[in-house]
Amino acid sequence: MRALGAVPAPDGRGSLADSPQISEIVIADDRVSFAILTTPDKARSLETIRSAAEAAVKAIPGVKDALVALTGERAAGASAAPPSAAPAAKAGASLDVRHIIAVASGKGGVGKSTTAANLALALAAKGLRVGLLDADVYGPSMPVLFGIRHKPASDGKTIEPIMSYGIKLMSIGFLIDSSTAMVWRGPMVMSAISQMLKEVNWGTLDVLVVDMPPGTGDAQLTMAQQVRLAGAVIVSTPQDLALADARRGVAMFRKVDVPILGVIENMSYFKCPHCGERTDLFGHGGAEKEAQELGVRFLGEIPLHARIRELSDAGTPVVAVEPTGEHASAYSAIADMVWTSLESGTGQRPAPRIVVN
Ligand SMILES: Nc1ncnc2c1ncn2[C@@H]1O[C@H](COP(=O)(O)OP(=O)(O)OP(=O)(O)O)[C@@H](O)[C@H]1O
Ligand SMILES: [Mg+2]
Repeated sequence: MRALGAVPAPDGRGSLADSPQISEIVIADDRVSFAILTTPDKARSLETIRSAAEAAVKAIPGVKDALVALTGERAAGASAAPPSAAPAAKAGASLDVRHIIAVASGKGGVGKSTTAANLALALAAKGLRVGLLDADVYGPSMPVLFGIRHKPASDGKTIEPIMSYGIKLMSIGFLIDSSTAMVWRGPMVMSAISQMLKEVNWGTLDVLVVDMPPGTGDAQLTMAQQVRLAGAVIVSTPQDLALADARRGVAMFRKVDVPILGVIENMSYFKCPHCGERTDLFGHGGAEKEAQELGVRFLGEIPLHARIRELSDAGTPVVAVEPTGEHASAYSAIADMVWTSLESGTGQRPAPRIVVN
């Protein structure tokens, strides 16, 4: 980075080291590679900067080889192919999925898994073909949320997802005993998630909902790198701390260029199961205000309600077993907003084009 401090930034403001257009830097032994992100029309004019960057890195003692590539993304709308012709998975993967979305948060325990499951079910209730992938390999939730105790079928090459309430499910929890302590390191997490994406027979899906582990670590990066995420939904509780964490979640997806579809405020208020009275336990409306400040959409609120927890713990998600109830309709309204913005292209990203000079 110090060497790149002497190379001008592509937009002329400051140095390449501070530029948001520089990719992650990969150092393998004495070889260094990275990319400068640009658009095809500007690629030619950036050749000087590209070669200066390469020279600067090569001049570092100990560096034998440096490769700097210009990575172009077509400008939005420039893609000639309709969205359906652009599968969400990168080349090489056999995924036939129209949109892959991540349900994430900066902090644990805010209700990501509950939200992901009910959102997936609400999308399926609209007639869409839906898959749900539990990417939380440290603490998988799907076996409990859907009451699944059997292993998925496999022919040794591909694994069949488990069908439940009309959606296809996959979780590391279906494959590994839940009492096994998951002391996995980064690369193992990445390969587990990659396998669950590529070696599971998802078939054709309109949407694959991915329940993310808490935080902004390896799993999130793997998802962003291995698949073209159409967008991320951030789940937050109204407390300030959780909101600070939500902000981190938003920042993380922005950094890897994944559009934020919006924020859901979970456990938004307390709904008394006996009298139906509403209590704003944590101060209500924080997530909506926060969403505005961050410039992302507010997708809606889900109350803290004993019924939601009971049904989750019983393996019978509320949207599946009380499809006409008030909770199902709250999830359904959120699903509508998510699907509309996916289809309107808010979450669409054109396929990146690599320009190697
Ligand atoms: N709206 C809600 N009303 C009542 N209980 C809820 C609600 N949302 C989630 N819960 C409960 O809160 C607990 C945590 O939820 P969940 O497991 O979905 O969170 P998470 O963010 O996925 O957690 P982790 O970070 O551990 O993955 C669960 O017991 C769940 O049933
Ligand atoms: Mg979870």
